Amino acid sequence: MEDKRKRLFSGIQPSGCITLGNYLGAVKNWVALQDEYDCLFSVVDLHCITVRQDPKEFKNRSLDFFAMLLAAGIDPKEHVLFFQSHVSCHAEMAWLLNCYTYIGELQRMTQFKDKSAKHADNINAGLMTYPVLMAADILLYQADAVPVGADQKQHLELTRDIAVRFNHAYGDTFKIPEPIIPKVGARIMSLQDPTSKMSKSDPNPKACISILDSPDTIMKKFKSAVTDSEAEIAYREGKDGINNLLSIYSAVTGTSIEDAVNTFAGQGYGTFKVSVAEAVIEMLRPLQERYAEIKNDKAYIESVYKEGAERAGRIAHRTLTKTMKKIGFMIP
Ligand code: AMP
Ligand code: TRP
Repeated sequence: MEDKRKRLFSGIQPSGCITLGNYLGAVKNWVALQDEYDCLFSVVDLHCITVRQDPKEFKNRSLDFFAMLLAAGIDPKEHVLFFQSHVSCHAEMAWLLNCYTYIGELQRMTQFKDKSAKHADNINAGLMTYPVLMAADILLYQADAVPVGADQKQHLELTRDIAVRFNHAYGDTFKIPEPIIPKVGARIMSLQDPTSKMSKSDPNPKACISILDSPDTIMKKFKSAVTDSEAEIAYREGKDGINNLLSIYSAVTGTSIEDAVNTFAGQGYGTFKVSVAEAVIEMLRPLQERYAEIKNDKAYIESVYKEGAERAGRIAHRTLTKTMKKIGFMIP
């Protein structure tokens, strides 16, 4: 049967761990979107080296991330799961697109501004051109849709600008991708500072839940989550900690924020925190069990990433050649 489904691409960087924020803001939706789209999911390892990596740790972590995506429910038979660095077209396309992107555009990116403020001693060129590599990832596959958390919206807008600019100069070459940003879970906040996003690079380990944290650890982290000095479970401005816990509960259980507020109305913060923690623990339990199995099956993981790279490589190569032809390169 002819497959007329739209194509979707998304990526996750194997840095830190997969956080509850990544899971609720991205990975959980990837799994659901597999029913509707032809998907390509990539562990975008090339993106990681804007920050210095320990080689051994980096390699292990990349494999762990790959296994976690399988455990979360990415189906590598129906869809394509691969390492970005295994398809050399990504780096090649990034070079081409660099020449159609302005430094001013890159300097305006919020993530670049944040990261260069944080790593003032290592503002390498890769940190600035990072969104161009991301544009290459997406445009190589002619993706219709790109699911990301709210923090990546700006990068996606830049991708669209680059694609439109190129198409305008050379005729129709790239599909213009649409972002898919989840309504709940798009921005899970730190448990210790609910005004900043939950991030794997947070130095405070209590701020961030890893999807591989033990039930005990998860419970402890939620119990020590920062809230406020009122005693009312309500979703409104100024109640960042409670809002975050309500969002997490809602994203995990699929209930609306209003229903969650009604469920917990009148309860103390302590009981509420335990309920949120329990919901998270139950959601992660099957994932953690599958992860433990897959992680031990090195041959299976290898067979999946080799096949993924071949399938992704075929599509990427076609777009790269088309792009080079348009620019006027001699194609051998
Ligand atoms: P990263 O960990 O930066 O590679 O991000 C992987 C995906 O997770 C991206 O789609 C992000 O938008 C999403 N993401 C990262 N942190 C959060 C968060 N705290 N809340 C929701 N989504 C997030
Ligand atoms: N920059 C993204 C992030 O930090 C990860 C990423 C890289 C990505 N390439 C991508 C996401 C392509 C979607 C599509 O979350």
